[in-house]
Amino acid sequence: MSSFPLFPDQASVSAQRVDAVYFGLLAISAFFALLIFILLIYFAIKYRRGRTVDRVIRRTDYLKLEMTWIIIPLLISFGIFGWAAKVYFDLKTPPGDALEIYVVGKQWMWKIQHPNGVRENNELHVPLGRTVKLTMTSQDVIHSFFIPAFRIKQDVLPGRYTSQWFQATKVGEYHLFCAEYCGTSHSGMIGKIVVMNPPEYERWLLQGVARESMAVSGELLYGKLSCGTCHKSGGRGPDLAGLFNSQVNLEGGAVVTADRAYIRESIINPMVKIVQGYPRLMPTYRTQLTEDQVNEVIEYIKTMGGGQETALRSVE
Ligand code: CUA
Repeated sequence: MSSFPLFPDQASVSAQRVDAVYFGLLAISAFFALLIFILLIYFAIKYRRGRTVDRVIRRTDYLKLEMTWIIIPLLISFGIFGWAAKVYFDLKTPPGDALEIYVVGKQWMWKIQHPNGVRENNELHVPLGRTVKLTMTSQDVIHSFFIPAFRIKQDVLPGRYTSQWFQATKVGEYHLFCAEYCGTSHSGMIGKIVVMNPPEYERWLLQGVARESMAVSGELLYGKLSCGTCHKSGGRGPDLAGLFNSQVNLEGGAVVTADRAYIRESIINPMVKIVQGYPRLMPTYRTQLTEDQVNEVIEYIKTMGGGQETALRSVE
Protein backbone atom coordinates (compact mmCIF):
# COMPACT_ATOMS: atom_id res chain seq x y z
CA MET A 1 0.00 0.00 0.00
CA SER A 2 2.96 2.33 0.42
CA SER A 3 2.92 3.26 -3.26
CA PHE A 4 -0.58 4.68 -2.75
CA PRO A 5 0.04 7.94 -0.91
CA LEU A 6 -3.48 8.23 0.52
CA PHE A 7 -2.75 5.25 2.71
CA PRO A 8 -0.33 5.14 5.64
CA ASP A 9 2.19 2.29 5.93
CA GLN A 10 1.02 -1.03 7.27
CA ALA A 11 3.44 -1.41 10.12
CA SER A 12 1.71 -3.59 12.71
CA VAL A 13 0.09 -6.99 12.93
CA SER A 14 -3.35 -5.38 13.25
CA ALA A 15 -2.83 -3.05 10.30
CA GLN A 16 -3.29 -5.77 7.70
CA ARG A 17 -6.35 -7.13 9.44
CA VAL A 18 -8.01 -3.71 9.77
CA ASP A 19 -7.24 -2.91 6.14
CA ALA A 20 -8.64 -6.26 5.03
CA VAL A 21 -11.99 -5.38 6.65
CA TYR A 22 -11.86 -1.92 5.11
CA PHE A 23 -11.13 -3.12 1.59
CA GLY A 24 -13.53 -6.02 1.97
CA LEU A 25 -16.35 -3.60 2.76
CA LEU A 26 -15.27 -1.36 -0.08
CA ALA A 27 -15.28 -4.30 -2.53
CA ILE A 28 -18.74 -5.48 -1.48
CA SER A 29 -20.15 -1.95 -1.69
CA ALA A 30 -18.52 -1.39 -5.07
CA PHE A 31 -19.88 -4.68 -6.39
CA PHE A 32 -23.48 -3.89 -5.43
CA ALA A 33 -23.25 -0.24 -6.48
CA LEU A 34 -21.99 -1.31 -9.91
CA LEU A 35 -24.62 -4.03 -10.22
CA ILE A 36 -27.40 -1.56 -9.42
CA PHE A 37 -26.07 1.14 -11.75
CA ILE A 38 -25.60 -1.26 -14.65
CA LEU A 39 -29.11 -2.67 -14.28
CA LEU A 40 -30.54 0.82 -13.86
CA ILE A 41 -28.99 2.03 -17.08
CA TYR A 42 -29.88 -1.16 -18.92
CA PHE A 43 -33.55 -1.00 -17.91
CA ALA A 44 -33.77 2.74 -18.49
CA ILE A 45 -32.65 2.19 -22.07
CA LYS A 46 -34.65 -0.95 -22.65
CA TYR A 47 -37.96 0.44 -21.33
CA ARG A 48 -37.54 4.03 -22.44
CA ARG A 49 -40.64 5.92 -23.62
CA GLY A 50 -41.82 5.17 -27.12
CA ARG A 51 -40.05 1.85 -27.37
CA THR A 52 -42.26 -1.09 -28.15
CA VAL A 53 -41.47 -3.69 -25.52
CA ASP A 54 -43.53 -6.12 -23.53
CA ARG A 55 -44.76 -4.18 -20.47
CA VAL A 56 -47.32 -6.67 -19.17
CA ILE A 57 -47.03 -7.51 -15.48
CA ARG A 58 -47.66 -11.25 -15.34
CA ARG A 59 -47.40 -11.98 -11.67
CA THR A 60 -46.52 -10.27 -8.43
CA ASP A 61 -45.65 -13.22 -6.16
CA TYR A 62 -42.01 -13.94 -6.82
CA LEU A 63 -41.52 -15.54 -3.43
CA LYS A 64 -38.29 -17.33 -4.28
CA LEU A 65 -36.76 -14.20 -5.75
CA GLU A 66 -37.74 -12.15 -2.71
CA MET A 67 -36.34 -14.74 -0.31
CA THR A 68 -33.11 -14.70 -2.27
CA TRP A 69 -32.63 -10.98 -1.98
CA ILE A 70 -33.44 -11.08 1.70
CA ILE A 71 -31.33 -14.06 2.67
CA ILE A 72 -28.16 -13.35 0.67
CA PRO A 73 -27.66 -9.79 1.97
CA LEU A 74 -28.52 -10.99 5.48
CA LEU A 75 -25.80 -13.62 5.31
CA ILE A 76 -23.34 -11.11 3.89
CA SER A 77 -24.15 -8.67 6.72
CA PHE A 78 -23.71 -11.35 9.38
CA GLY A 79 -20.43 -12.33 7.78
CA ILE A 80 -19.14 -8.75 7.86
CA PHE A 81 -20.31 -8.36 11.45
CA GLY A 82 -18.61 -11.54 12.63
CA TRP A 83 -15.39 -10.74 10.78
CA ALA A 84 -15.16 -7.12 11.97
CA ALA A 85 -16.17 -8.01 15.54
CA LYS A 86 -13.36 -10.59 15.70
CA VAL A 87 -10.82 -8.01 14.51
CA TYR A 88 -12.20 -5.44 16.96
CA PHE A 89 -12.10 -7.75 19.97
CA ASP A 90 -8.56 -8.84 19.12
CA LEU A 91 -7.58 -5.17 18.88
CA LYS A 92 -9.02 -4.59 22.35
CA THR A 93 -7.45 -7.62 24.02
CA PRO A 94 -3.70 -7.42 24.48
CA PRO A 95 -1.91 -10.80 24.34
CA GLY A 96 -0.51 -11.87 27.70
CA ASP A 97 3.22 -11.23 27.63
CA ALA A 98 3.12 -7.60 26.55
CA LEU A 99 5.78 -5.01 27.31
CA GLU A 100 3.90 -2.38 29.31
CA ILE A 101 4.63 1.28 28.59
CA TYR A 102 2.93 4.23 30.26
CA VAL A 103 1.48 7.22 28.45
CA VAL A 104 0.28 10.43 30.08
CA GLY A 105 -1.37 13.02 27.87
CA LYS A 106 -1.34 16.65 28.84
CA GLN A 107 -1.94 19.94 27.07
CA TRP A 108 -0.06 19.63 24.71
CA MET A 109 2.35 16.79 24.78
CA TRP A 110 2.67 13.05 25.25
CA LYS A 111 4.74 11.95 28.22
CA ILE A 112 5.92 8.39 27.97
CA GLN A 113 7.65 6.23 30.51
CA HIS A 114 9.22 2.82 30.13
CA PRO A 115 9.17 0.38 33.08
CA ASN A 116 12.93 0.76 33.60
CA GLY A 117 12.34 4.46 34.24
CA VAL A 118 13.41 5.92 30.88
CA ARG A 119 11.18 8.83 29.93
CA GLU A 120 10.56 10.45 26.59
CA ASN A 121 8.32 13.22 25.31
CA ASN A 122 6.36 13.01 22.05
CA GLU A 123 8.46 10.02 21.03
CA LEU A 124 7.94 6.36 21.66
CA HIS A 125 10.71 3.88 20.96
CA VAL A 126 9.59 0.27 20.69
CA PRO A 127 11.20 -3.00 19.68
CA LEU A 128 10.23 -4.74 16.46
CA GLY A 129 8.05 -7.83 16.76
CA ARG A 130 7.32 -7.47 20.45
CA THR A 131 3.80 -6.93 21.77
CA VAL A 132 3.59 -3.52 23.43
CA LYS A 133 0.73 -2.55 25.70
CA LEU A 134 0.15 1.13 26.38
CA THR A 135 -1.47 2.08 29.67
CA MET A 136 -2.73 5.59 29.23
CA THR A 137 -4.26 8.41 31.21
CA SER A 138 -4.55 12.17 30.96
CA GLN A 139 -3.52 14.91 33.32
CA ASP A 140 -6.14 17.38 32.08
CA VAL A 141 -8.61 16.92 29.23
CA ILE A 142 -9.50 14.15 26.80
CA HIS A 143 -6.82 13.34 24.25
CA SER A 144 -6.60 10.46 21.81
CA PHE A 145 -3.49 8.43 21.05
CA PHE A 146 -3.49 7.67 17.34
CA ILE A 147 -0.87 5.78 15.30
CA PRO A 148 -2.20 5.59 11.72
CA ALA A 149 0.49 3.15 10.52
CA PHE A 150 -0.57 0.71 13.25
CA ARG A 151 -4.30 1.38 12.71
CA ILE A 152 -4.87 1.97 16.40
CA LYS A 153 -6.55 4.88 18.14
CA GLN A 154 -7.80 5.15 21.69
CA ASP A 155 -9.09 8.04 23.78
CA VAL A 156 -6.95 9.04 26.74
CA LEU A 157 -9.14 10.18 29.61
CA PRO A 158 -8.52 12.13 32.80
CA GLY A 159 -9.22 10.06 35.90
CA ARG A 160 -9.29 6.76 34.07
CA TYR A 161 -6.92 4.25 32.53
CA THR A 162 -7.37 3.10 28.98
CA SER A 163 -5.07 0.82 27.07
CA GLN A 164 -4.26 -0.37 23.61
CA TRP A 165 -1.64 -2.67 22.15
CA PHE A 166 0.30 -3.25 18.98
CA GLN A 167 3.05 -5.37 17.56
CA ALA A 168 5.23 -3.49 15.09
CA THR A 169 6.21 -5.37 11.95
CA LYS A 170 8.46 -2.84 10.22
CA VAL A 171 11.47 -0.89 11.41
CA GLY A 172 11.00 2.84 10.85
CA GLU A 173 9.49 6.07 12.09
CA TYR A 174 5.76 6.62 12.12
CA HIS A 175 3.42 9.48 12.94
CA LEU A 176 1.81 9.87 16.31
CA PHE A 177 -1.21 12.17 16.50
CA CYS A 178 -3.61 13.44 19.10
CA ALA A 179 -6.96 12.69 17.52
CA GLU A 180 -9.26 14.48 19.94
CA TYR A 181 -9.58 18.26 19.93
CA CYS A 182 -7.99 19.28 23.23
CA GLY A 183 -7.45 23.03 23.03
CA THR A 184 -5.37 25.65 21.25
CA SER A 185 -2.32 23.55 20.40
CA HIS A 186 -4.15 20.31 19.70
CA SER A 187 -2.72 20.23 16.19
CA GLY A 188 0.78 20.52 17.62
CA MET A 189 0.32 17.53 19.90
CA ILE A 190 2.15 15.23 17.55
CA GLY A 191 5.13 12.99 17.79
CA LYS A 192 6.74 9.92 16.34
CA ILE A 193 6.91 6.23 16.99
CA VAL A 194 10.35 4.73 16.40
CA VAL A 195 10.41 1.00 15.73
CA MET A 196 13.86 -0.48 16.29
CA ASN A 197 15.44 -3.90 16.00
CA PRO A 198 15.43 -5.51 19.47
CA PRO A 199 19.21 -5.30 20.08
CA GLU A 200 19.18 -1.65 19.05
CA TYR A 201 16.20 -1.03 21.29
CA GLU A 202 18.03 -2.61 24.25
CA ARG A 203 20.95 -0.30 23.58
CA TRP A 204 18.63 2.68 23.32
CA LEU A 205 16.95 1.80 26.63
CA LEU A 206 20.31 1.74 28.38
CA GLN A 207 21.36 5.04 26.84
CA GLY A 208 18.47 6.78 28.57
CA VAL A 209 19.58 8.98 31.42
CA ALA A 210 20.62 6.62 34.19
CA ARG A 211 17.78 6.73 36.64
CA GLU A 212 15.79 4.36 38.76
CA SER A 213 13.06 2.08 37.45
CA MET A 214 9.44 3.14 37.84
CA ALA A 215 8.97 0.78 40.78
CA VAL A 216 11.97 2.24 42.57
CA SER A 217 10.79 5.81 41.95
CA GLY A 218 7.47 4.66 43.34
CA GLU A 219 9.15 3.25 46.41
CA LEU A 220 10.96 6.54 46.98
CA LEU A 221 7.67 8.44 46.73
CA TYR A 222 6.05 5.90 49.03
CA GLY A 223 8.74 6.61 51.58
CA LYS A 224 8.66 10.38 51.10
CA LEU A 225 4.91 10.52 51.63
CA SER A 226 5.19 8.14 54.60
CA CYS A 227 2.56 5.78 53.20
CA GLY A 228 4.11 2.98 55.21
CA THR A 229 3.30 4.68 58.51
CA CYS A 230 -0.32 3.56 58.17
CA HIS A 231 -0.08 0.84 55.53
CA LYS A 232 1.53 -2.04 57.38
CA SER A 233 0.21 -5.16 58.99
CA GLY A 234 -1.68 -4.09 62.10
CA GLY A 235 -1.52 -0.46 60.96
CA ARG A 236 -4.31 2.09 60.70
CA GLY A 237 -4.58 1.44 56.99
CA PRO A 238 -4.66 -1.90 55.18
CA ASP A 239 -1.38 -3.69 54.52
CA LEU A 240 -0.58 -3.33 50.81
CA ALA A 241 1.58 -6.43 50.45
CA GLY A 242 0.10 -8.72 47.81
CA LEU A 243 -2.63 -6.16 47.11
CA PHE A 244 -2.30 -5.85 43.35
CA ASN A 245 -4.99 -7.81 41.50
CA SER A 246 -6.31 -9.31 44.75
CA GLN A 247 -9.94 -9.19 45.88
CA VAL A 248 -10.70 -6.49 48.45
CA ASN A 249 -13.71 -6.51 50.78
CA LEU A 250 -15.21 -3.05 51.18
CA GLU A 251 -17.42 -1.47 53.82
CA GLY A 252 -20.97 -2.24 52.81
CA GLY A 253 -20.16 -5.73 51.56
CA ALA A 254 -18.95 -5.05 48.03
CA VAL A 255 -15.88 -6.84 46.72
CA VAL A 256 -13.58 -5.22 44.18
CA THR A 257 -10.45 -6.27 42.34
CA ALA A 258 -7.46 -4.15 43.32
CA ASP A 259 -6.53 -3.23 39.76
CA ARG A 260 -4.75 -0.12 38.56
CA ALA A 261 -7.97 1.92 38.46
CA TYR A 262 -8.96 0.96 42.01
CA ILE A 263 -5.53 1.78 43.44
CA ARG A 264 -5.43 5.11 41.64
CA GLU A 265 -8.89 6.00 42.95
CA SER A 266 -7.84 5.07 46.47
CA ILE A 267 -4.86 7.42 46.23
CA ILE A 268 -6.70 10.35 44.62
CA ASN A 269 -10.15 9.87 46.11
CA PRO A 270 -9.71 7.66 49.18
CA MET A 271 -13.20 8.13 50.64
CA VAL A 272 -14.99 6.48 47.71
CA LYS A 273 -14.13 2.90 48.62
CA ILE A 274 -13.28 2.08 52.23
CA VAL A 275 -11.71 -1.26 53.01
CA GLN A 276 -13.79 -3.23 55.48
CA GLY A 277 -12.73 -2.77 59.07
CA TYR A 278 -10.65 0.38 58.54
CA PRO A 279 -11.42 3.95 59.62
CA ARG A 280 -12.02 6.76 57.13
CA LEU A 281 -8.65 8.36 57.69
CA MET A 282 -6.71 8.63 54.50
CA PRO A 283 -6.22 12.10 53.00
CA THR A 284 -6.27 12.63 49.25
CA TYR A 285 -2.96 12.83 47.40
CA ARG A 286 -4.55 14.60 44.44
CA THR A 287 -2.34 17.67 44.69
CA GLN A 288 0.81 15.87 45.77
CA LEU A 289 1.14 13.35 42.98
CA THR A 290 1.14 13.78 39.22
CA GLU A 291 -0.29 11.02 37.05
CA ASP A 292 3.26 9.87 36.29
CA GLN A 293 3.96 9.57 39.99
CA VAL A 294 0.71 7.69 40.58
CA ASN A 295 1.90 5.24 37.89
CA GLU A 296 5.19 4.86 39.72
CA VAL A 297 3.56 4.26 43.09
CA ILE A 298 1.31 1.63 41.49
CA GLU A 299 4.35 -0.02 39.89
CA TYR A 300 5.89 -0.17 43.37
CA ILE A 301 2.72 -1.60 44.92
CA LYS A 302 2.74 -4.27 42.19
CA THR A 303 6.17 -5.41 43.37
CA MET A 304 5.09 -5.70 47.02
CA GLY A 305 4.72 -9.41 47.47
CA GLY A 306 3.24 -11.03 50.52
CA GLY A 307 6.59 -11.07 52.28
CA GLN A 308 9.18 -8.46 53.15
CA GLU A 309 10.46 -8.14 49.60
CA THR A 310 11.09 -4.60 48.47
CA ALA A 311 11.15 -3.12 45.02
CA LEU A 312 14.84 -2.39 45.29
CA ARG A 313 15.54 -6.08 45.50
CA SER A 314 12.86 -7.41 43.15
CA VAL A 315 13.26 -5.06 40.25
CA GLU A 316 16.27 -6.74 38.69
CU1 CUA B 1 -4.39 16.31 22.82
CU2 CUA B 1 -5.72 16.92 20.95
